[in-house]
Amino acid sequence: MALNKFSRIYTQDDSLPASQAMLIGAGLSDADLRKPFVGICSTGFEGNTCNMHLNGLADEVKRGVAAQGLVGLRFNTIGVSDGITNGNAGMRFSLVSREIIADSIEAMAGAHYYDALATVVGCDKNMPGALIAMARLNRPSLMVYGGTIKGGEFKGQQLNIVSCFEAYGKKVNGQISDEDYQGIIHNACPGPGACGGMYTANTMAAAIETLGMSVPASSSLPAESAAKVQECLDAGAYLRNLLELDLKPRDILTREAFENAMVVITVLGGSTNAVLHLIAIAHAAGVHLTMEDFQAVSNRVPVLADLKPSGKYLMEDLSKIGGVPAVQRTLLNYGLLNGDLMTVTGRTLAENLANVPSLGAEQDLLRPLSNPIKADGHIQMLYGNLATKGSVAKISGKEGLRFEGPAIVFNSEEELNQGIIDHKIKAGQVVVIRYVGPKGGPGMPEMLKPTSAIMGAGLGDKVALITDGRFSGGTHGFVIGHVCPEAFDGGGIALVQDGDWIILDASANTIDVQLSKDELAVRRAAWQRPPLPAKQGVLLKYIRTVSDASHGCITDLAEEDYVTADLSPAR
Ligand code: FES
Repeated sequence: MALNKFSRIYTQDDSLPASQAMLIGAGLSDADLRKPFVGICSTGFEGNTCNMHLNGLADEVKRGVAAQGLVGLRFNTIGVSDGITNGNAGMRFSLVSREIIADSIEAMAGAHYYDALATVVGCDKNMPGALIAMARLNRPSLMVYGGTIKGGEFKGQQLNIVSCFEAYGKKVNGQISDEDYQGIIHNACPGPGACGGMYTANTMAAAIETLGMSVPASSSLPAESAAKVQECLDAGAYLRNLLELDLKPRDILTREAFENAMVVITVLGGSTNAVLHLIAIAHAAGVHLTMEDFQAVSNRVPVLADLKPSGKYLMEDLSKIGGVPAVQRTLLNYGLLNGDLMTVTGRTLAENLANVPSLGAEQDLLRPLSNPIKADGHIQMLYGNLATKGSVAKISGKEGLRFEGPAIVFNSEEELNQGIIDHKIKAGQVVVIRYVGPKGGPGMPEMLKPTSAIMGAGLGDKVALITDGRFSGGTHGFVIGHVCPEAFDGGGIALVQDGDWIILDASANTIDVQLSKDELAVRRAAWQRPPLPAKQGVLLKYIRTVSDASHGCITDLAEEDYVTADLSPAR
């Protein structure tokens, strides 16, 4: 089989001289025109630590591709940094960017008939966006993760990006000097790389390595390491092998692979954003994955890793003890992973791990199965009159399994931020942040600033938060997001008023406001949908096309999928 089965459509057809003339004009030789074309897409851009080095890594991938007799053709797409877009204005574009990334890679590689695809990506939405595109295109592909950032340090305190938000909370409460506040800001991000804890980027990197779509050990490699450069150079050989085997993403992205990824996310205590992203990637790969599948994994798999945000260690610490492969090897020994699944190496997961030692008592980052941090998963799906189509809770166990209290309601992140400054939040309350869902935000912004500020104010373990928006992977505490239906669609969360009693029960998986059906009906009759939160452009297109959070906030959900999707029924 010709390895250039797509690009030859225009490189080897005498009737398409313009295509060939343009490629020759772009610097390709006649010999190059007979080689397979590899699209190399980077989300590199200046102005963000997660992405600032990606174009350089893409250059290394191109070198590695050329060394294998392939033609690497670099192109870029956008990347949006969650670390910089905090605040509703910018953050509204974050989840939207996942779709733009997926759509633009699909359009570019599809239009130019690339035979294979490498994506070099580095921040929260970059990775799922790239995976969605690779699954849609279904041509030999692999993902290169830009790598994790080094930890920062100031006055002996270990720092990461979340330290900045927590410092802000302390500043608001007069617990930290301006000098120390500035010191933390100036030292939290000491160079390139994605946020260092088990936040969304590292969660997705570990999940994607486990899915089999990036090479072994790549997800925990620091951004600034010789090993990361070598991974990029090696990508050429892996891509050549994938082309020769005609091994495509949908051969790798099977339902069982998603099961494995959910297990690793759970063991590592990963981000709730993974629920949205894996459902979306699965949809692109033609795999039917639901929130209930996550719940089933949470019911049988414990949290074992002592990683930030709720734990002690960073991803670079995991790298030092063998990285994700060491975790996978240990889980394989426990019988928690399926080792028979194919990966981008052309070998199975178990074959990749054949010479990897498992983790034991020589380290304390990954606890043994007999002494878990939490006996079941931290990601729990809660249903009730506040979330008839589900919500996603992140329950580390430290905050308890049940919370009840009076509601204090905010209709935007800005309202909540002002409420924190005005000291409106009191211990014992359930903080409701609504109209920040996929349509209402729009773009389902993360509540990183308010949640970190609440932490910094010392209220983190004294209040619960529920929202139809998202939480950052860096958030910890009793937090429930992805409430569905969202307030903009008239979900139960839209009907809550200050002082209503809310009961959240992570062991019974319930989220309810203590109101009768009659009272809810009266309030529903009086409820009015607010005006569209965007009037034009990409945000308006997003409002018109985005699915609900329980369907992964995808923008290409066919009408019949809504009918056949096996979501947990409303209670
Ligand atoms: Fe890029 Fe956190 S902002 S990984």
